[in-house]
Amino acid sequence: MRRLEGKIAIVTGGAGGIGSATARRLTSEGATTVIADLDLERARVVAAEIGHGATAFHYDAESVDTVEALVASTVARFGRLDILLNNAAITTPQIQREDTTAVDITFETWDRVMAVNLRGYLAGCKYAIPEMLKVGGGAIINTASGSGLVGDLSRIGYGTSKAGVIALTRFIATQYGRQGVRCNAVAPGLILTEASKAGVPELIEMI
Ligand SMILES: NC(=O)c1ccc[n+]([C@@H]2O[C@H](COP(=O)([O-])OP(=O)(O)OC[C@H]3O[C@@H](n4cnc5c(N)ncnc54)[C@H](O)[C@@H]3O)[C@@H](O)[C@H]2O)c1
Repeated sequence: MRRLEGKIAIVTGGAGGIGSATARRLTSEGATTVIADLDLERARVVAAEIGHGATAFHYDAESVDTVEALVASTVARFGRLDILLNNAAITTPQIQREDTTAVDITFETWDRVMAVNLRGYLAGCKYAIPEMLKVGGGAIINTASGSGLVGDLSRIGYGTSKAGVIALTRFIATQYGRQGVRCNAVAPGLILTEASKAGVPELIEMI
């Protein structure tokens, strides 16, 4: 059964591992998908592979103006917005090295992680919700992480941003659920994407 026939979906971080797999699934359920990512080249490849009207869009989650443009251009092109998967996260090797402990992390790294992983999600919601309300409702899915639920010896910024994503999800569900905008979070454990394969090999082997 194609449950999402006629629905328009934005997938942020859509060029990446989880985003591209989810975009494929949304498309197989009938949705038309916008693959939004900082990496336009890869987003174009993913959109072409997916087909069925999927398009690529370049934006930077750190810049809220580009998040606004992403939503506006989706609505201008397809006439509506039904689904937002907030999924982009900063996973570069440099950030992974610098996002460490409370004592060692710089405020610059902290701010960058929060801007992409948390404020970027808020921006997506802020601009998507009014469009969803116009069509009677919609669904927002925020990719959190198991790291947002437990402490760890490193990645204090990442884990805190993901805990923030879980709280953001609860607030949005509470504030807009009655008007038909559902908001849920998914907290994956380790998913073997290209990005996670580039992480600590011993840890991956152990898991
Ligand atoms: N892979 C895992 O094990 C795992 C586990 C738990 C949670 N997650 C979460 O899943 C989501 C997807 O991660 P993934 O594993 O597919 O990683 P990934 O690196 O494959 O995908 C992330 C995507 O986000 C994009 N991106 C990065 N910074 C951006 C920015 N400023 N603006 C727009 N796009 C940007 C990247 O270009 C990339 O395509 C993330 O939110 C991540 O935190 C992943």
